[in-house]
Amino acid sequence: MTPLDDLALNTLFRDARTHNGWLDKPVTTEQLHALYDLVKMGPTSANSSPARFVFVTTPEGKAKLAPALSAGNLEKTMKAPVTVIVAMDMTFYEHLPKLFPHADARVWFVGNEEMIRITALRNSSLQGAYLILAARALGLDTGAMSGFDAKKVDEAFFAGTSFKSNFLVNLGYGDPSKLFLRSPRFSFEEAAQIV
Ligand SMILES: Cc1cc2nc3c(=O)[nH]c(=O)nc-3n(C[C@H](O)[C@H](O)[C@H](O)COP(=O)(O)O)c2cc1C
Repeated sequence: MTPLDDLALNTLFRDARTHNGWLDKPVTTEQLHALYDLVKMGPTSANSSPARFVFVTTPEGKAKLAPALSAGNLEKTMKAPVTVIVAMDMTFYEHLPKLFPHADARVWFVGNEEMIRITALRNSSLQGAYLILAARALGLDTGAMSGFDAKKVDEAFFAGTSFKSNFLVNLGYGDPSKLFLRSPRFSFEEAAQIV
């Protein structure tokens, strides 16, 4: 595989920001399909793919989301063309015969609540991260959010299902005038070690 060039690395990491304001420019259904078709290829343990995605685009959908949002996340989420609920299917393991056909991986999970919980959380979080990077790769901006009441989101969107919300991601074309200054990051020496 050829390493990506600087333009791609800047788009994915160095210049990409978490956005708080959104331009009045729509995101199409085709773009959401193109996004999912990249996200689904990201690796998950046993290919379990526990994440489920709700693309909230309509005023009705946004109205259902609004009561669950923290005060600081409300206005920007109402203005974002799309808000993605990154959820996890807590019965993801029932799909393993299809997704991981070369082993009986379903039995690793049945009856093991802690293994189910950690696998759903770890891998749906990874898939949410793939979503952020895939969106950037497609020229979109994102704003991830954990400031919301998960119980309220689950009641509004997932009542009677095995889905639970993990986090939210606003999606669209960011308004650069609403960005905070970039915060510092740890250096290699501060955050990493080679042993
Ligand atoms: C999982 C997750 C949850 C976050 N929750 C919130 C949130 O609730 N509200 C908010 O304004 N920003 C939230 N952020 C944004 C972070 O503060 C931001 O990504 C970080 O400061 C880095 O900013 P940068 O990407 O512009 O460098 C969240 C980010 C992530 C990845």
